[in-house]
Amino acid sequence: MTICILSDIHGNHLALEACLAHAESRRAQGYIFLGDYISDGAYPQKTMALLYDWMRHHDCRFIRGNREEYMVDYRDGKIKGWQDGSATGALLYTYENLTDRDIDWFQTLDNHGTEGFEGAPPLHYCHGAPWKTNGTLAQGDPETIRRLQELPEPCILCGHTHRLGMYLLGRQSVVRAGSVGYPLSTPGYAQMTLLHSVQDGVPRWRPEYALVPYDNHAAVQELHASGLMERAPVWSAMTAHALLTGENIAGLLPPYAQSLYEKDCGEKAPYSRIPEAYWQRAAEVYRCQTK
Ligand SMILES: [Fe+2]
Repeated sequence: MTICILSDIHGNHLALEACLAHAESRRAQGYIFLGDYISDGAYPQKTMALLYDWMRHHDCRFIRGNREEYMVDYRDGKIKGWQDGSATGALLYTYENLTDRDIDWFQTLDNHGTEGFEGAPPLHYCHGAPWKTNGTLAQGDPETIRRLQELPEPCILCGHTHRLGMYLLGRQSVVRAGSVGYPLSTPGYAQMTLLHSVQDGVPRWRPEYALVPYDNHAAVQELHASGLMERAPVWSAMTAHALLTGENIAGLLPPYAQSLYEKDCGEKAPYSRIPEAYWQRAAEVYRCQTK
């Protein structure tokens, strides 16, 4: 049996299309989607259309990522104040390009799930961590190991880190499924994981990490054509940079913009209150092109 695991599409419909075609060619019998379907990429409605179509004809499981959680919370008024600009412009663009049907569907999704398979170990799957969509299953962290041990499943699947690989946490194995649409370290190649059930002695899963070529330059062009680059200039430039180079500066540049602001103004401020000029100055330092 082969199961296809897809995570962190982030609205990159071109990468998703390539991964689904690859999974089909490898005769995957089931699909587990680990969340963060939308936001950062252009035209999120194209990603949603692909997902709705796929679930009609294939055996699929879906859970919610932190990005879907943001969309639901914004509609419910639990998050406020999104506006154009590098801090929240890409989220607002995504929200405006989704429908109530999309957000209703996000609302129905659980944050994690379990699945049993004939002749293979049961799986527990989540976005970041089973207890928090934007948590992480940190290697060697005693608290994470303690919490995972409360789960009976021997194999945990997760996304959110945009990395591929497998490691042990206590007695459980953790499989990172990579990122379809915002792949780190593999520019031009979408990442997905195929899990094969193996029956040689002790039943187990063997992960196969697939790198699927797709047109990353076209994905960047869509950031410009969709207007995202104007609405969230530095944020979208970081997305373009990641798509073209595989480097993740999204964890470095925003805190740097924050530190520049703090130095000038003598106060700490959340990303949403950092003026665009500071984002631009940070973008220059990280050689992140906003044009
Ligand atoms: Fe995420």
